[in-house]
Amino acid sequence: MGKIGKILAFSGSVRSQSTNSLFLEFLSKYAPNNLKIEIYASVKSLPIFDIDDIENPPQIMKQLLDKIRDCDAILISCPEYIHSIPGGIKNLIDWLVPNEEIIDKHIFIVHASHRGEDLLEQLRLVLRTVSNNFHEDIFIRFGLMNKNRDEIFEILNQNMTQINEFFDKVFEKIS
Ligand SMILES: Cc1cc2nc3c(=O)[nH]c(=O)nc-3n(C[C@H](O)[C@H](O)[C@H](O)COP(=O)(O)O)c2cc1C
Repeated sequence: MGKIGKILAFSGSVRSQSTNSLFLEFLSKYAPNNLKIEIYASVKSLPIFDIDDIENPPQIMKQLLDKIRDCDAILISCPEYIHSIPGGIKNLIDWLVPNEEIIDKHIFIVHASHRGEDLLEQLRLVLRTVSNNFHEDIFIRFGLMNKNRDEIFEILNQNMTQINEFFDKVFEKIS
């Protein structure tokens, strides 16, 4: 059996019906056999980053660092909040910066909206800074804002060709 790429996915929105989270859920459900996408569900439970805690991070952060060490790539889908990066996901990235786990990790982003150019610009700047392997050119986005779960899955199902091309490019980079 060939390699299976392990991807840890993070949504920048913690609300229950988040379009970004549903986008990631769809991707995890319809990923090809050579990719396994796990969605990290505890972004909102992470404590505020404190550089004083970096030598001995809180347990929840230790567990997340283990998961990041264990995965081949990180995938982020994030909404724009006030022309910027939502606090929860920025807090998570802050925690990762002093840790060696992130430097060479492959990172990809997708986006669940036709809006949010400021967010994308800022997120790309941040991810370029924290990782040597942020693949910003491998990117897909769909206009899912204000859509419900059924509508989102229908739109994404209609765009499987593009989504499969994205999966192929991701696998090529991490394998
Ligand atoms: C606090 C807050 C601030 C927002 N600020 C912006 C913004 O500056 N620009 C924008 O295009 N949309 C903004 N939005 C809209 C969200 O980006 C949009 O609704 C997005 O689809 C929400 O993603 P979600 O469904 O994953 O939660 C904001 C929403 C919230 C809740």
